[in-house]
Amino acid sequence: MISEEIIKKQIGQTLNGTDLKLGKKYKGKVRDVYEDGGKVFLISTDRQSAFDRSLAQIPFKGQVLTQTSAFWFEQTKDIVRNHIIDIPDPNVVAGKKLTVFPVEMVIRGYPTGVTETAAWTAYAKGERLFCGNVLPEGMKKNQKFPEPIITPTTKSEIHDEKISAEEIVEQALMTQEQWDHLADKTRKIFQRGQEIAARNGLILVDTKYEFGHDEDGNIYLLDEIHTPDSSRFWLKDSYEQRFSEGKEPENIDKEFLRLWFKENCDPYKDDVLPDAPEELVVELSKRYIQLYEMITGQEFDAEPGDVKERIEHNLREKKYM
Ligand SMILES: Nc1ncnc2c1ncn2[C@@H]1O[C@H](COP(=O)(O)OP(=O)(O)OP(=O)(O)O)[C@@H](O)[C@H]1O
Ligand SMILES: [Mg+2]
Repeated sequence: MISEEIIKKQIGQTLNGTDLKLGKKYKGKVRDVYEDGGKVFLISTDRQSAFDRSLAQIPFKGQVLTQTSAFWFEQTKDIVRNHIIDIPDPNVVAGKKLTVFPVEMVIRGYPTGVTETAAWTAYAKGERLFCGNVLPEGMKKNQKFPEPIITPTTKSEIHDEKISAEEIVEQALMTQEQWDHLADKTRKIFQRGQEIAARNGLILVDTKYEFGHDEDGNIYLLDEIHTPDSSRFWLKDSYEQRFSEGKEPENIDKEFLRLWFKENCDPYKDDVLPDAPEELVVELSKRYIQLYEMITGQEFDAEPGDVKERIEHNLREKKYM
């Protein structure tokens, strides 16, 4: 595990954003995306977002996200082709620009969560039909579903809405054949993810995938896969015991940072937020790195220094700009 000193030293050199001469730019909550000809460049920044805004910058977070995704794309490429062309920098994926299906393929192995859109919230209210899935009676929170369920959402500018397979086909977001194909791939990728996670002491609880296609109709997995930002992980060793005692599973989570902001300001209303304390920023960086190391079974090879300069250098070197 990386030393605390290296993490602290990196605090002043994190990547908050980019301004590259690399085609059309789109700024997501965490990533900066550039479109250039037939390629997309997904640049993972170190931004930590919650409450729909940026809370802090976490050393090495962008590197962890990019390299976690890269690991999983490699581990699943026999199941489905993916968009990766090149990883020109530890924070950058160059992908094939594809036509993205306007649906996020969410898949869940356990009913959990506390937000309005969470599966457990719906179940606890008595809902037994969830995005076209009939849920079994008598489930407890965090109990494993007999089979993982696919609970798609529409991709929209404002907020994602639940939708069923039937509605997806009715609204012509996909053909029936495309849905069947993507649902099959979604189950297989999730199963592979759960197997690899389990070997490394983790439970892959739920996640979401995005798919797209090229001009010839070939299907690709794109965006990101099984990162701590797109997925929920629990620690496997303590799960059974804690579940039987009615306790929440252990995880390696960012919840403590959200709580600090809730206690120290009004993150929904205040124009300017206070700076997160250094120990919390360091703690979160450690957690991201720990997750990376558990997921991949490999030691994290931190690339300290000015991330922005390095990215520009690498993209120039590889003639992308
Ligand atoms: N190979 C690809 N071809 C075309 N578009 C892609 C490709 N890979 C990813 N994308 C798109 O790039 C965008 C990445 O945006 P990003 O996920 O960073 O922000 P967001 O989706 O707006 O917000 P959130 O942080 O909630 O995910 C997504 O719209 C995704 O569909
Ligand atoms: Mg996204």
